Amino acid sequence: GTSASSTNHTKYKEIISTLPRIEGRWRQSLQLHEYQGFWFGQNILEGIMSAQEHLKAQPTDIFICSHPKSGTTWLKALSFAILTRKRFSYSSTNPLLSELPHDVMPFIDISAFTDITSRDPELPLLSTHMPYTSLPKSIVEGKCKIIYICRDPKDLFISLWHFTSKLRGTRAETFPLEEACQKFCEGLHNYGPYWDHVLGYWKASLQFPERMLFIKYEDLQNDTFSYVKRMAEFMGCPFSMEEERQGLVQKVVDLCSFEILSNLEVNKSKKHSSAARQYLKIEKRAFFRKGKVGDWENYLTAEMAATIDQITEQKFCGSGLSF
Ligand code: A3P
Repeated sequence: GTSASSTNHTKYKEIISTLPRIEGRWRQSLQLHEYQGFWFGQNILEGIMSAQEHLKAQPTDIFICSHPKSGTTWLKALSFAILTRKRFSYSSTNPLLSELPHDVMPFIDISAFTDITSRDPELPLLSTHMPYTSLPKSIVEGKCKIIYICRDPKDLFISLWHFTSKLRGTRAETFPLEEACQKFCEGLHNYGPYWDHVLGYWKASLQFPERMLFIKYEDLQNDTFSYVKRMAEFMGCPFSMEEERQGLVQKVVDLCSFEILSNLEVNKSKKHSSAARQYLKIEKRAFFRKGKVGDWENYLTAEMAATIDQITEQKFCGSGLSF
């Protein structure tokens, strides 16, 4: 109920007030708080603490995990289209044609109470941006399946910079790229440091390969078809020979493509996403920008790119992971 949750939120606020704190600068008065090795804004952190305390994941739940701007929207669309292919045809009834992919599954970081109780009982999908080490116990102990997506840190940074520029609003000055880059490199952004986020899931995927599917955005772009098949197998609903003959794999690929999704009326809309409404005032169309690999080249100076690459090398050294 609301009174229990507001008591909890008072409790979380008190804990948060004791944590290391810094001015985020990505948008006006965004204070970041350091918790379990990562930085979070107040609202998100309250949601995370609440999920950590209350979320009761079912062993059959499948979690779509990512750092913001890694390709979450795409991965949500793909996983939804794969799992619901028997229920919804690829015609007008498919929810992906009338809803933002973020709105077809709960996002536990902000709404562990509300969304989960009203979720679609036939859809095992849930999503989070939490770092692996902060995931609620029930997810890890319940051995829930996890699909994680990440991308080249340089593209992620540029995507994040554009997205947060929109959050600053049209009248605010843009956040100078150079300063943003410095903050990004120091990990001072929501859910940062990015590298540690990726590493946490990477290490877990090596330790528990049967319950974690680790995907790079670049690989997914390169061969979406194979990944759709692999995702289906991983989620326990492989495409049958018959379905493959009917071209269903390609239908999923097409439906979830940047071209199709970004041109849907719903996704061009200036309306706010309902999934994000509690903490983000952002237009739906902000989730679809360019959808390209390597766009950083149009923005980063050679020096900024080298700085990011150097951190990537240092952090991922010996892990078997590279971009
Ligand atoms: P760019 O800003 O580089 O264009 P997230 O979904 O995690 O917020 O990540 C957003 C990034 O994914 C954006 O990258 C966005 O354009 C891209 N994206 C969104 N939908 C996509 C799709 N269907 N296919 C490929 N990329 C997509």
